[in-house]
Amino acid sequence: MRSSEAEYGEPTTDSALALAEARRRRALPGYVSGASILRKLAEPVVLPQPDRNAVLRYAGVPEKMWGMSWSECEREPGEFYGTWKKRALASGRFCILEGNRWAFEWIRDWSAAEGSVYICGPVGTGKSLLTATKSEELLTVPVSLAWDSDDGGYRRDGGVSVYYTDETSLARAQRSHKRHGEKGSISPIQRASECALLVLDDFIRRENPAKGYKQEDADDDLEYLLNCRYGASLPVLITSNSPLDAVEQARGHRVASRLYEMCGGLCITVTCDDWRRA
Ligand SMILES: Nc1ncnc2c1ncn2[C@@H]1O[C@H](COP(=O)(O)OP(=O)(O)O)[C@@H](O)[C@H]1O
Ligand SMILES: [Mg+2]
Repeated sequence: MRSSEAEYGEPTTDSALALAEARRRRALPGYVSGASILRKLAEPVVLPQPDRNAVLRYAGVPEKMWGMSWSECEREPGEFYGTWKKRALASGRFCILEGNRWAFEWIRDWSAAEGSVYICGPVGTGKSLLTATKSEELLTVPVSLAWDSDDGGYRRDGGVSVYYTDETSLARAQRSHKRHGEKGSISPIQRASECALLVLDDFIRRENPAKGYKQEDADDDLEYLLNCRYGASLPVLITSNSPLDAVEQARGHRVASRLYEMCGGLCITVTCDDWRRA
């Protein structure tokens, strides 16, 4: 028994849930049914569908990419690529070729303790689908809630908080938070800095993110969030059309150097054809 437990005893479930809910509300602006999700999570069961959807939606995982499993769909002899892809996606499986096997197996077997991952490859090769599938897996594993008296709240055993976004959306959300966000609520950049896993899709796309939020703001925020995650050893899954070596020229030495260390200098490449054209 921990010392704080001896002093204060186990909290009652309701007050603990209310506390956890209050924290969650602060941490997750716009969150809909936190209390019911927490109550469900208290039982170590697979999330029922509506709550599972709310969790995935809140995490930002694109709905189109939900429902994949880590199994492969064998190609029938003579089968067209397009037919193969349709059959694979309809059954929640992946088409695997020589060019995407490395990334598929890497992401499938990856665990957060291994650190960050940088995946690069041309458009349409399935990078987002892989990271979305991993996010879904991490967000929806059967979890139980354990009372953590050191932390003063419930800790999700087995489950993690995931934020799936891309730089443009993050910039837009940040700008909107600055303008309309509730005072004291956590900003998108803060959330991206602190969540257990950040998926940063389509990295180094240089676009003017939004009026009132300049490229310098995006650069500052990126440096801040990578610094935070680097310091706290929190992983980030990055997908990009450009190799890791291109980060330095695009985003400067400080960002590139940190990312390089976080990803162990490894750039997982995907080289198959564009699945969108299949
Ligand atoms: N391994 C795969 N097997 C079947 N379909 C795939 C596979 N990878 C991607 N797709 C499909 O191809 C399209 C593009 O994938 P996406 O992950 O968005 O590519 P990227 O992020 O590399 O541009 C999506 O509709 C996705 O469902
Ligand atoms: Mg993509």
